[in-house]
Parts: sequence; structure tokens; C-alpha cells
Amino acid sequence: MIYNKALLEAGEDHGSHPGIVAEELHENRTITGADLCFVNRRFMGAGMSQNYVAIYFFEYYQAAHKFEYVVEFGSQKGALSTYWANAAGISEKFFFDTFEIDKKQDWYNRPVEGAGHWFDRLAHFSPYINSYEQDVFADVTFDHVKGNVEQFKTFIFCDGGDKAAEFNLYAPLLKPGDRIAVHDWGHEIYQSDIQATCDEWNIVPDDHWVEANESFGTLIMPFRLGE
Ligand SMILES: C[S@@+](CC[C@H](N)C(=O)[O-])C[C@H]1O[C@@H](n2cnc3c(N)ncnc32)[C@H](O)[C@@H]1O
Repeated sequence: MIYNKALLEAGEDHGSHPGIVAEELHENRTITGADLCFVNRRFMGAGMSQNYVAIYFFEYYQAAHKFEYVVEFGSQKGALSTYWANAAGISEKFFFDTFEIDKKQDWYNRPVEGAGHWFDRLAHFSPYINSYEQDVFADVTFDHVKGNVEQFKTFIFCDGGDKAAEFNLYAPLLKPGDRIAVHDWGHEIYQSDIQATCDEWNIVPDDHWVEANESFGTLIMPFRLGE
């Protein structure tokens, strides 16, 4: 079968924004192992505010814990969301939600490598996947997440506009076995921002998973309930 070339020319010019710089394309230099630890990477052709090692971490974090419900706060361009959506759809062993306050800015923005159009197709076919254009601090979001946390073993990933406020609002929902992680640890969120919540609800760093993230510069900090 000879494919229809017009299909390649029909869609928007993906990744055409001038902010997607040529340097990132590695046109003129050798790719090194250190590149895998660089945060803000293209993944599956979409923009991702993580490094590649974060994917490795998430893959084995999920394998180890077998979460039944995974939530991402802050979808942005959607590469990470699409990773989790694929994992949910392939395994059919957990539900995945992602929340974004403004989908016009990046999620549906093809020139900046937004993946929302493809996520929507996956979500259309899979009952395990959903994305919401909702404020993570709105009652409707909190009630939806709370209801599912009550029912399922959960992993919450705080990567929206105010990671500390997200942690402080949602970490008290944790049950034994659940996990919550924040991104941009030591950059946008510090222990002092969440100390009161950790003290009140007995929330502690998640053991060796913390070291793995530190050594690979993911800027992800995972937490669990204390014993
Ligand atoms: C750092 S980006 C998320 C990156 C994404 N998780 C990834 O790994 O590629 C933060 C996103 O959170 C969104 N955001 C900010 N405040 C929000 C809120 N109150 N509710 C939902 N999303 C919010 C922003 O619009 C932005 O797209």
C-alpha cells in the first residue's frame, strides 16, 4: 500500500514555533548521557517538562506500587500525560487523570509541540484515561480526586502552578500505600513550604525513591505516609 502523502501536509506544522530552538534538536553536536538528565525534553514528539530519567522512574514506581489511580496536576503540552495515558491504556490496571487550567496555551498548541489532540483520541477509545480543563483548586476537581482516592490506591503528581499549595491541599487525602510527589523540588517548592502538612499528617520522604531522583536530577520528590 502506498500511503497518501497529502496526509503529511494536511495537519498543523507541529513544533514549528521559533521557541523550539535548533540547539535542542542536537543538529550540531553529539548527544550525551547527560542529555537524558536535562529537564524540559521533547518526548514522543511532544513537549515535556521532565527529563528522560523521570520516565524511567515513573515506569518502575508504577511497577513497584501498582497504583490503581494516577493523577497529574498541570498537563501543559501533554507529553508526560500521554506517557501515563499509554501506560494506563496498555496495562488496563489503573485510571489516569490530568488537570490543566488552560488547554489553549500549550495542550492544543501544535506549533509548541502540544499533544492534546492525540491524548483526546486515546481518551476517546480508552475508559482508563481522562483530561480536564479545570483548576486543581476548584471544588469540582478536589471532590473528583478525593472520591477516587478513597476508592483506589493512588499516586498524585503535583506539577501545576503552585506545587506547595497542591501538596498541602491533597497530601492529607493519602491512605497507607498511596504516594504523592512534587516536581521542581528545591526550585519552586521547599520542605519549609510543606512542613506543617507533613507534621500534621505524618508524611515522610519515600525512602530510596528519593535518592534515585536526586542522583538523576529529575527534580521529583516523592512522599508517603509515615509508619
Ligand atoms: C510545569 S507545567 C506542567 C508540566 C507537565 N506536567 C509535564 O511534565 O510536561 C504547569 C502547568 O500547570 C498549569 N496550571 C497552573 N495553575 C493551574 C491550576 N490552578 N490548575 C490546573 N493547572 C494549572 C499551567 O497552565 C501549566 O501548563
